[in-house]
Order: sequence, then structure tokens, then C-alpha cells
Amino acid sequence: MPTLFYKGNTMAVGIFDSGLGGLTVLDAVHKRLPDVPLVYFGDNAHAPYGVRDADDIYALTIAATERMFAAGCDLVVLACNTAASAALRRMQENWVPQGKRVLGVMVPLIEALTERQWGDNSPPREVAVKHVALFATPATVASRAFQRELAFRAIGVDVEAQACGGVVDAIEEGDMILAEALVRSHVDALKRKMPRPEAAILGCTHYPLMAETFQEALGPDVSVYSQADLVAASLADYLTRRPEFIGDGQESMFLTTGDPVRVSSHATQFLRRKITFTAA
Ligand code: DGL
Repeated sequence: MPTLFYKGNTMAVGIFDSGLGGLTVLDAVHKRLPDVPLVYFGDNAHAPYGVRDADDIYALTIAATERMFAAGCDLVVLACNTAASAALRRMQENWVPQGKRVLGVMVPLIEALTERQWGDNSPPREVAVKHVALFATPATVASRAFQRELAFRAIGVDVEAQACGGVVDAIEEGDMILAEALVRSHVDALKRKMPRPEAAILGCTHYPLMAETFQEALGPDVSVYSQADLVAASLADYLTRRPEFIGDGQESMFLTTGDPVRVSSHATQFLRRKITFTAA
């Protein structure tokens, strides 16, 4: 196992996911901030997180974040809604060491949906979108974190959540035909509960890989929000205000707890550029 332990200066910004989904965020961040070195950590050996309980997700997310701190990251983005929903608040309250930052991916999306500027903490107000479909993992749906964050910012929004069992497993396996069939059946299930959503939130970073299928199944009138570009824009804004977190590393690095050969091959297929993972 390679030892990557840098003391002192920040080397890079960390991007974490239970598996391959966070690569959608990494790709958008890389396009927006090509000079910022990134450390990606995929906990592929333990994916999917979405069927685990909150304590389990908390322990796994802390272990991964510690590994990214050891790799020189002072700022880690949890590009995993499941980890962010089940563990982020608890981590920030009890665990994040001084001088380190751990951020989630849900707030930038809610700010976009409610047409707020980043960090606008004014009281909740009426917004244009009234019927919102949320597609996420079972653990994210169970946490109700999305509804809680939304209630801080908007009133009168009806959210119908659909737990999309199986989709992350299918994507991790590279079985896109199964993933597509599952997405269509989850959209049908959602539509039975909310026939005419105005907006749909892809509340799992794996789902942008299936964005076309979601849009097709939902129909052209539904605005589909996915996180990658929103998180990249919000991170760029954060780093403008806090440049000390950019880091002075030279290269990006991809770590996995899974099989590096297999994970590299799936990552290369998804991002359409060569990605090489090493063992975490
Ligand atoms: N990409 C993760 C998310 O955003 C997937 C979680 C899982 O492993 O189930 O929720």
C-alpha cells in the first residue's frame, strides 16, 4: 500500500464519494478549475452506501476523509449525497479538526433551485417551483436532509422523494442497461405519486451519468437539476474567498479502496479520458 503522508502545506482539494459517482463532480470541478490539483477518493469496496445505516456511513466517511487529510487535503468535498445527508452535520459538529473543512453537495443545488446567491441566509420565502421530485438513495431519502435544507430557504414547496434502489449498484457494476431500466421504473413510481413535477433533483452524484434517461422518462417540461456544475461553481466561489484551501500540489490523484484496475476502467469509460486509480 503506498504511503502518501504530506505534512504542512495543503496539496490539493479532496473530492470524496462512495464510488464512481463523485467523478461527475470531479470532472466539472476540473473543467472549471483546471489548475487546482484534486485528490479523488472512491470507497468502491464499501459502495453502495445508500443501503447502510447512518452510523456505518459516518464511520466510513470519517475513515475516507482522514485518508484524504493524510494525502494533504485541508478541504474535502463530500461529493456523495448519502454521506453528506447521513454524516456531514455530525462530522462538522463533533469531528472535523481545526484548520480543516468538509463541505457537502446539497446546499449549492438547493440554492440554485430556490434562486439564491451562495451563502444567502435570509429567511425562507416563496419560490417559483412548487412541485419537486427528488431522486436519491434510500439512505438520503430516509435522512430527510434535503427537505430540511430546503425548509431553511423556501416555503410552500411540495417535495416527493423516490428512493432509487439498485441504481448505484448497477452503475458501479458498469451495467448501464440495468441502470437505465431501473431509472425508468423509479420515474414511473414517482409519477404515480406526483404526476406533474415541475423540477426534478438528481440527488445522488451517480445519477448525472443517467441524466438523459431521467430527462427522457420525465419529459421535456421537467427541469432536471444535477449537482456537478453547481458544486463546481460554488467551490470556485469558495476558493476565491478562501484561496488558502487551493493547495500547492502539482498533480491530481485517484485513490480507491476497490480494485484499482477495474475502477480505473469504469472511470475511464465514464469520463471518456484516461483515469488511473491507485490503492488507497
Ligand atoms: N454517489 C452517492 C450519492 O451521491 C451514492 C451513494 C451510494 O453509494 O449509495 O449519494
